[in-house]
Amino acid sequence: MGYAELASVSRGFARMRSLKQFLQRQLHFIVIGGFLSILLIACQPLAQSQAPDASPPPETSSETVDQTEAVGTLELPPLPYAFDALEPYIDAETMELHHDRHHAAYVNNYNEAITDYPDLQSQGVEALLRNLDVIPEDVRITIRNNGGGHVNHSMFWQIMSPEGGGEPQGQLAEQINQTFGSFADFQTAFEEAGANQFGSGWVWLVSNNEGNLQITTTLNQDNPIMQGAFPIMGNDVWEHAYYLSYRNRRAEYLDAWWNVVNWEEVGRRYEQAVQG
Ligand SMILES: [Fe+2]
Repeated sequence: MGYAELASVSRGFARMRSLKQFLQRQLHFIVIGGFLSILLIACQPLAQSQAPDASPPPETSSETVDQTEAVGTLELPPLPYAFDALEPYIDAETMELHHDRHHAAYVNNYNEAITDYPDLQSQGVEALLRNLDVIPEDVRITIRNNGGGHVNHSMFWQIMSPEGGGEPQGQLAEQINQTFGSFADFQTAFEEAGANQFGSGWVWLVSNNEGNLQITTTLNQDNPIMQGAFPIMGNDVWEHAYYLSYRNRRAEYLDAWWNVVNWEEVGRRYEQAVQG
């Protein structure tokens, strides 16, 4: 074999080694690529199953809102009119303090008291007021006073209106006349009961356990639902409701209050009581 032939064979071997190295690199890439593809496919179902928890869709968000309501935390309802809307009968400063400070404090205190009691949270404030015995003793008074304060005041803002005053209409007016003799007699009895309530409390027109209209009073922030009655309307006779304008003249406040009573709302509550 001559030199030229030897050189040709040597170049042939060199090309074969290059080709072998090239194929080995390609095989290496194919194996790694395949492994990564299998890994990605295997992880996909796991990623999909975890996605809803990591980023809830809008439907889940609305369920969360419902759960918030169901767990019994309270929210301060907005006043349905301006602070000065009930003047001159109830002054703006009284309304602002009454709603933004007193009612807000009842809401905050209730929410704080109920924080550590998930079994109470699912029952709602009115259910707890109807059945105070289920509440642990260490938070019973707090829930009674502040839960009652929230329920009472939530009704109170609604049964007053800048367009209030006048007289009840329809079935409620008939029942008031039948029970108390006349609307004027009802007003007199309601004012007397409110004036005679010793200390802080409320005067109410309720539908009692027999389904009859009755004037009652409660101490502090107690609500007639605690005695199984339905509160159709109630006036707040705590001093914080009238003291800035009327000082100690509660009877004057009780008399002026008729000018802001929202009889349409009171009538709606009466229908609710009748329907049970
Ligand atoms: Fe009040």
